[in-house]
Amino acid sequence: MDVSTSVAAAPELATPTHVVMSRDGAVLTITMNRPEKKNALTHAMYAAMAEALGQAAGDATVRAIFITGAGDAFTSGNDLGDFLNAPPHGADAPVFRFLTAISTAEKPVVAAVNGLAVGIGTTMLLHCDLVYAARSAAFTAPFVNLALVPEAASSMLLPRRIGHAKAAELFLLGGRMDAAQAEAAGLVTAVFDDQSLAAEAMTRARALAAKAPGAVRATKALMKRGEEPVAERMRAESEQFSARLKSPELREAIKAFTEKRAPDFGKAGEQ
Ligand code: COA
Repeated sequence: MDVSTSVAAAPELATPTHVVMSRDGAVLTITMNRPEKKNALTHAMYAAMAEALGQAAGDATVRAIFITGAGDAFTSGNDLGDFLNAPPHGADAPVFRFLTAISTAEKPVVAAVNGLAVGIGTTMLLHCDLVYAARSAAFTAPFVNLALVPEAASSMLLPRRIGHAKAAELFLLGGRMDAAQAEAAGLVTAVFDDQSLAAEAMTRARALAAKAPGAVRATKALMKRGEEPVAERMRAESEQFSARLKSPELREAIKAFTEKRAPDFGKAGEQ
């Protein structure tokens, strides 16, 4: 059942319905919901999203997080009025709380980019695990156009992901990538027709949520470790591997295989 709830009121949360959380089984959906402003992100919206991610981290029943936008845009990026009138400042600013929460999320994060992704709309994707885009989606990062510089560690992560030359076109020239280009460049996992994006992306989020949660989290953590010598990585993997050989999740996976049924990690899943 899909139960929609507005984010609980936080002190700076003047407009709670601009971020909507809903649950579909073990998947928590966070929808940026300010379509009349192309989902431009205000302080209150960042605060709500940071809080939602924090709650998801502490809720054992949430096994995947799904981020999308309402209407025809993913998000037009930071609210320009906020940039001018109330620029974020200090590590505790809502935007930094959001970026910290998404970049350190241990649970898998799936993005469904339903339209234009501007600025942080593009850079937040570098912290998501699976990024699905509508065929009509497009990606821009016009920081320099606004006399700004990139955030979210994207000046490091984007060139690393898509190469300096492609990243320079987005960052320095304020260029635009369509969905097919973003997929070819490796920013996007897969592209779907606009009408089927939400269902296709949610099917994958559900599949992710049905996997052994401890194994998913451990694998994500291994994938997010920085560059290190191969021997060091093998040591880290083998530590995890040995621990997981003793896990209830492994017992359930093998039992399900021998009984020719789908595994059920509902009980076996470690939190
Ligand atoms: N901050 C505040 N308001 C925004 C916004 C933003 N980032 N992006 C769009 N809006 C508002 C528009 O001002 C407009 O408001 P209005 O109806 O009261 O005039 C409304 O959202 C719709 O936007 P509009 O420009 O009419 O839609 P569009 O489809 O023609 O263009 C964009 C959409 C996103 C391409 C365009 O609005 C834009 O370039 N926005 C600025 C994006 C930006 O620079 N973000 C910061 C990146 S670091």
